[in-house]
Amino acid sequence: MGFCPQCRGSEPLVESSSLSVAVPVAVSESTEPASRISTGLEEVDRVLGGGLVRGSAVLVGGAPGIGKSTLLGQVGARMTAMGSRVLLASAEESVGQVGLRQRRLGIAGGDVDVIASSDIASVLDLAHTYDVLVIDSIQTVFDRESSGAAGSVSQVRSCADRAVRLAKEQGVTVILVGHITKEGSLAGPKALEHLVDVVLYFEPDDKLGLRVLRGMKNRFGTVWATGVFEMTASGLVEIPDPSVLALDGRSFFAPGSVIMPALAGRRCLLNEVQALVVPTNTNAPPRRSSTGVTNGRLHQILAVLDRRGGLSLSTAEVYVSVMGGVRTADPATDLAIAAAIISSRLDVAIPRVAAFGEVGLTGEIRASLQADVRLAECHRLGIDSVLAAPLVTRVDQLVSAIEDLRDKELPESEKTEGVVHNFAGRPRVASVNASNPSGFVS
Ligand code: TYD
Ligand code: MG
Repeated sequence: MGFCPQCRGSEPLVESSSLSVAVPVAVSESTEPASRISTGLEEVDRVLGGGLVRGSAVLVGGAPGIGKSTLLGQVGARMTAMGSRVLLASAEESVGQVGLRQRRLGIAGGDVDVIASSDIASVLDLAHTYDVLVIDSIQTVFDRESSGAAGSVSQVRSCADRAVRLAKEQGVTVILVGHITKEGSLAGPKALEHLVDVVLYFEPDDKLGLRVLRGMKNRFGTVWATGVFEMTASGLVEIPDPSVLALDGRSFFAPGSVIMPALAGRRCLLNEVQALVVPTNTNAPPRRSSTGVTNGRLHQILAVLDRRGGLSLSTAEVYVSVMGGVRTADPATDLAIAAAIISSRLDVAIPRVAAFGEVGLTGEIRASLQADVRLAECHRLGIDSVLAAPLVTRVDQLVSAIEDLRDKELPESEKTEGVVHNFAGRPRVASVNASNPSGFVS
């Protein structure tokens, strides 16, 4: 027994029986990670790495109005319909408001319990009998035992800390909603990232008008997975096949457009990358701008094309954009970016051909990881021609392969019906074999 050295209070400290001594355990004897519960939404499960881990803490961040409350309302309804007990603690909206939304999202049997309280202690007192606790939002709850106003960093931290403790000690899965400004500058959610097991961000995808759920941190899975949704009058609708949407209605017969198979987690998404090269005759450094890939990669690809591909670009303005608001760090997207730049520079259209491969500083084009996954996705969407290593191995070959397309006339029917122009017989362009989508056929 003793007295608290910090507050020097007169109440004696009492030994707590909940304190336990940690004992080392051999890794081979450690128990399996806790079981997972499906959220009832496949896109969310995928981003989580296969569902919610029981007793884990998840932070869902995003700008106000993006749809966090809607998403978690839907998850809550699905989970209760499947037999889980879900408590939705809403400090932002009244029980009536939440009820109205839940009824609108209408899932039979999906009757979540709602508590409209901003006092974290009363929320946590109730929550231990539930499987899942959603706190919407962590910036609007407060802890009486902590200083500062609701939303201040110290309040947000101490509330999150208490919620995470509930998760670890009682096995309740805790989902914290965190508002974040466009620049991600709000101190709250950022300060929580290290406290929780999983951090997901819900972001707009302006070009497709969709919303994307991304993993930023995941102690139980990959962070590369994405879930794609559309906001409708009856809530968020999952878009399981964004490749089709991303490619729909695009003009692949315009110079500067190339199909880019990019890996996102275990999925391969086909996307369109566009480039616009504008020759200038000023001495000022030309403008280079990229969306979806870093400027550093754009500059590197331009330097390689200029120096190793014999493509004069030093005075040209260059704009590159991965369509659909997708951001990719997959190095195999180099080749599609390079091909789009060449296509725009030469003003030669590349028909429905997908390109992938890493471009090295010496001008070499390397084979990509998971080429079979990429080829299978191309084949599934009717893109039967690809530019990839080992069929094209140097950027100068790529430049001349695209130059050679200049005089190829496509029948009008192929353009309008979208029939794949097959490059059969051309050594540098491969066809995907229908019966063996994972193999190249030259
Ligand atoms: P909301 O989930 O409240 O966003 P957040 O919690 O991230 O602040 O919803 C955001 C917007 O979505 C809101 O302006 C209304 C719209 N919305 C729909 O279009 N359809 C719906 O079914 C719902 C529930 C909301
Ligand atoms: Mg909300």
